[in-house]
Amino acid sequence: MKSEHKATLSFSDGSPSVEMPIYKGTVGPDVIDIRKIYGQTGKFTFDPGFMSTAACESKITYIDGDKGELVYRGYPIEILAANCDHLEVCYLLLYGELPTAAQRERFEESVKGHSMVHEQMHFFLRGFRRDAHPMAVLVAVIGALAAFYHDSLDIDDPESRRISAVRVIAKIPTLMAMAYKYSVGQPFRYPQKNLSFAANIMQMMFGMPTEPYEPNEVLVRALDRILILHADHEQNASTSTVRLAGSSGANPFACISAGISTLWGPAHGGANEACLVMLQNLQKQGGVSKIGEFITKVKDKDSGVKLMGFGHRVYKNYDPRAKLMRETCHEVLTELGLHDDPLFAIAMKLEQIALEDDYFVSRKLYPNVDYYSGIVQKAMGIPVSMFTCMFAVSRTVGWISQWNEMISEPDQKIGRPRQLYTGYPTREFIPVKKR
Ligand code: CMC
Repeated sequence: MKSEHKATLSFSDGSPSVEMPIYKGTVGPDVIDIRKIYGQTGKFTFDPGFMSTAACESKITYIDGDKGELVYRGYPIEILAANCDHLEVCYLLLYGELPTAAQRERFEESVKGHSMVHEQMHFFLRGFRRDAHPMAVLVAVIGALAAFYHDSLDIDDPESRRISAVRVIAKIPTLMAMAYKYSVGQPFRYPQKNLSFAANIMQMMFGMPTEPYEPNEVLVRALDRILILHADHEQNASTSTVRLAGSSGANPFACISAGISTLWGPAHGGANEACLVMLQNLQKQGGVSKIGEFITKVKDKDSGVKLMGFGHRVYKNYDPRAKLMRETCHEVLTELGLHDDPLFAIAMKLEQIALEDDYFVSRKLYPNVDYYSGIVQKAMGIPVSMFTCMFAVSRTVGWISQWNEMISEPDQKIGRPRQLYTGYPTREFIPVKKR
């Protein structure tokens, strides 16, 4: 990285000032390189929540939060959602370019070739309680993949990393569907090579041994769009977790499992589940007529109630994924004859009221991707508890691409944040009898 300009940090206590290089990205804010501050001043910087800190250099995904734009490898999400399928997007995120027809075919063949899981995995699944949350199951079985694929765990070998990436992208839908089938007491389904990535997910989740399963094309396309829209989102909490875990040299399956754990939280990937529960509660309490009361509660900071599916750390404008998701929501509900769906009506009205309310306008709170994705998934027959798992299936390519980018960095270092310690200084130990 080259620096044309410098920033100067000066101190009011008379300590000598320090010059720091400033780097320019292709787009987005410049960054001030603070790596040498501690060595030069003996001081740390303080930025809990990474409000102003770029933790890495990346070429994969860029978000312009003010404009509400998201690009993967330079391509706007709207263009990709309209023209590609999930596997093409996976190729783009992993390798940096859209595939040629031949590359696409080889990549699809490779992913399909790795989509089965070891038969021993069935026993892992069977060890869980049937009512286990499928995210708990997914965290465990993805981490357990490292116990099966020793041959691709050499993270310093690019070919091992490539195989691990394909394995995890290919196997997570199978494991997610197995977690679902187990929870409803139905037999596991094997992946089928003749189906697309998204159609195969539907077949593994909803197919039964008693009858042939024909995936509905509109629903397959909707699922594919969900997968594309969630595929990567620069340095969000789960991706940063994957990078941090990976920085210690942990194997890729362990790192993805750590990412899944982080995704589970309601402020992150768990928001789609939390949003649907919020809409269902509103419906139970009286529907559209109760929105005003609900908004009053959201605005009252003491209530602890948030408008789930609204707000974002980076987007201070409409999340472009939410726009596409709302479109998909219309298509799915029309296809299924559910255009009068009460949850959708509540969601539309709630969005309209919030976007006219000064609380949300002044804080630049807009719907995010999770606002409509839950309604789409519910209409498709995907149970609420599986929503975040579906998010994990799509985000896996983003996680593994970011992990690979980090490992390929020649001067990659273990992630080790510092702290502002405000606990006791060293103090005298008092034996238990005297305390
Ligand atoms: N409902 C009500 N108030 C909100 C909301 C909300 N959903 N989001 C933010 N605010 C308020 C917040 O209370 C604060 O108010 P004030 O300035 O008066 O203290 C202000 O807006 C700024 O919010 P913040 O919490 O400082 O923002 P953040 O960047 O730390 O948090 C967020 C971002 C996504 C965690 C938060 O907006 C939120 O909890 N949203 C609901 C959960 C959700 O939908 N999450 C999915 C995010 S998109 C999917 C993904 O990438 O994982």
